[in-house]
Amino acid sequence: MEKVILSGMRPTGPLHIGHLFGALKNWKKLQDEGYKCFYMIADYHALSTDYANTEDIKNYVEEIAIDFISSGLDPEKSTIFIQSLVPEHTELHLIFSMIIPIPYLERNPVYKEQREEIKDKDLNTYGFLGYPVLQAADILIYKAEFVPIGIDQLPHLELTREIARKFNSLYGQTFPEPQAILTETPKIPGTDGRKMSKSYNNAIYLKDSPEIIKEKVSKMFTDPKRIYKNDPGHPETCPVFSYHKIFNEKKVAEIEIDCKGAKIGCTDCKKQLGEKLIEYLEEIRIKREKLGKNKGKLIEILVEGSKKARETSIKTINEVKEKIGFIYGR
Ligand code: TRP
Ligand code: SF4
Repeated sequence: MEKVILSGMRPTGPLHIGHLFGALKNWKKLQDEGYKCFYMIADYHALSTDYANTEDIKNYVEEIAIDFISSGLDPEKSTIFIQSLVPEHTELHLIFSMIIPIPYLERNPVYKEQREEIKDKDLNTYGFLGYPVLQAADILIYKAEFVPIGIDQLPHLELTREIARKFNSLYGQTFPEPQAILTETPKIPGTDGRKMSKSYNNAIYLKDSPEIIKEKVSKMFTDPKRIYKNDPGHPETCPVFSYHKIFNEKKVAEIEIDCKGAKIGCTDCKKQLGEKLIEYLEEIRIKREKLGKNKGKLIEILVEGSKKARETSIKTINEVKEKIGFIYGR
């Protein structure tokens, strides 16, 4: 049987080049290697932290779908869908909520960390505590064996495995214990050298126009020890240089030498980077423009993908109900 992959993202904002290297490129690779891939826009999960602000969700769902497809996810090869259009996720979530012990959720490090860090949102809800239970349902409703995720998501996957084990031991072998696919990805810092994030205002988005990219690159932080052009630079501490390593591979060795030898100025160095970055994102930008012009078609793709996802999810939910001993069938 073909190996099933599932992953997803919450529609909480447009995707940036960190997402491209951290997730999307890997998702595309798995798709092209012939896995049976399900890629989901997790709109219910977006509610878990932002239930009071839903006015942007529709727009973010569309933007993320455009980002997915223009980065190379192909709706003909992968099933690209919206979580809330596949109601079996919520049914399985309810069933899992019956068997997951509350202490497992309360000691989840992601939960504890976010409770500490996020102060501007109400996280005191049942849905937020149960976030990983819904994630387990997302994965297991397709019996996915592999889940490409970032390291930060490993505790959630561990809970998925525990839920699968417990279900299987209670009602009979039904679910695989899925494994993570962690990718070795180059770390792309934000334009200020910190972690790239929407909330730090330091991200370069897939949707950014060439003008905006130029502007953002021109304002990037550089080696703080290099004050005058004659000062030798330290490329290893410079975010601009981290970008050259990724987007300007051919010239990176030369730039390193010239920076250390104070032969190139930072303005010039950034200008070169801006051009490379614009060139690199050109293909995505062209596809984005095309997709953005036909929102009707885009929604159709997502509705179709969700229908296709349901073909699998209905089978699983029926099997689950049968195993539990319910009357089932549709
Ligand atoms: N929790 C994931 C994130 O924040 C998103 C997500 C929801 C997900 N359901 C999933 C990822 C299932 C992998 C599998 O990035
Ligand atoms: Fe960074 Fe380039 Fe300036 Fe060197 S020349 S400090 S690599 S921006």
